[in-house]
Amino acid sequence: MDSETAATVFTDPRAYADNERFYAATALLRRESPVYLVEHPKYNPFWAITKHDDVMTISRDAGLWINAPRTALGPKPKDESRQDIPIRSLVQMDAPDHPVYRHISADWFKPLGVRRLRARIEELAKRFVDQLADLGGECDFFVDVVSHYPLYVIMSLLGLPEEDFPRMLKLTQELFGADDEDLARKGDKQAHMAALIDFFQYFQTVIADRRANPTDDLGSVIANARINGELIGEMEAAGYYVLIATAGHDTTSSALAGGMHALLEHPDQWRRLSGDLSLVPTAFDEMIRWVSPVKQFMRTATEDTVVRGVPIAAGESVLLSYPSANRDEDVFENPDAFDVGRSPNRHVAFGFGAHYCLGTHLARLEGQALYAELVPRLRSIELAGTPEYMETLFVGGPKRLPIRYTMA
Ligand code: HEM
Repeated sequence: MDSETAATVFTDPRAYADNERFYAATALLRRESPVYLVEHPKYNPFWAITKHDDVMTISRDAGLWINAPRTALGPKPKDESRQDIPIRSLVQMDAPDHPVYRHISADWFKPLGVRRLRARIEELAKRFVDQLADLGGECDFFVDVVSHYPLYVIMSLLGLPEEDFPRMLKLTQELFGADDEDLARKGDKQAHMAALIDFFQYFQTVIADRRANPTDDLGSVIANARINGELIGEMEAAGYYVLIATAGHDTTSSALAGGMHALLEHPDQWRRLSGDLSLVPTAFDEMIRWVSPVKQFMRTATEDTVVRGVPIAAGESVLLSYPSANRDEDVFENPDAFDVGRSPNRHVAFGFGAHYCLGTHLARLEGQALYAELVPRLRSIELAGTPEYMETLFVGGPKRLPIRYTMA
């Protein structure tokens, strides 16, 4: 394999569904062409960044490297239409707007803010583990259990009613799974756009309601936020909800399901974890590193610059490959080993710098709550079929994880 062949993994949604292919290709790129120009008829050219240190260095400098013009990789029309969508959320913003908008919800996501939700999260974790028990010994761990749980947490955070959860679940899967035939809207060429519009309409009614009847949830905080003294615009508030609703659950459910798959493939690590529950926090972070649910974000250079000796001109874009960075042999000991006790674990699955994931504490609380409830109740567990991964260019993990199990 040469670098050109290896770099096809970034533009081929099937590559993210094939871990072996993806990690072999990116290991080669890290070794031979860690800053590699990808040219493909369907995509505007971009530089693929595969080393951990370069991902950190670029993410750290939000003045030189901005988000707005090209937030994440999509085929040409999608890159362009993303700019036409009237929704502008944190990930599409740069200073001076970005820090102002981020500040609106930042307190809710700090450890203290998230701790307010602990009891609700533990209750939900128990509910979903009970559901697993009720399913009677055979199910799809992704479809039947963890694809729902993080959504319930996010919807509770926003203060939305439980009867709306299934609709949100379907829309988010359509939004992020639009590159996967199983999940995209059948026969709808503008699947991505259509799902976004549905989302937007739903949240417009929520905004109107929270303005008329403010409550103490994050939904109300956003709907009534003031930007430089002015009430936040409807579009901006809706964009905020969309970002939180979408960013908050496919990511976490991918980590939870991919983490379970890793445990099933590494029975020694399963035994270690079930014998010592104090390992749950490091185990969940290792699951996040292992799965790296967010496959990429992009940045665009505001000036001519150089990355690892390679000149990059103003206006050119880089793709930050988080899964590749998280297997970088210069940073991780035995990067291809799944180690539930890994410490330190300097993964960049949550990104880094000004846009560092707002939901890290929430995601960790959720993931740890689920595994802390689940592990002691499982007596045995094994694969009951072949797992399948989502075809995606952006966020993904398993879409099918059939398991057979016995529970206490
Ligand atoms: C941003 C990953 C869970 C909310 C991000 C970024 C990544 C990421 C890679 C971009 C960071 C960058 O550009 O440097 C993940 C992973 C998760 C997860 C792997 C789960 C395992 C969550 C949750 C929420 C959330 C539970 C909460 C609702 C956000 C928001 C941003 C973000 C609002 C945008 C921040 C900004 O642009 O300032 N996340 N995330 N994420 N995440 Fe997460």
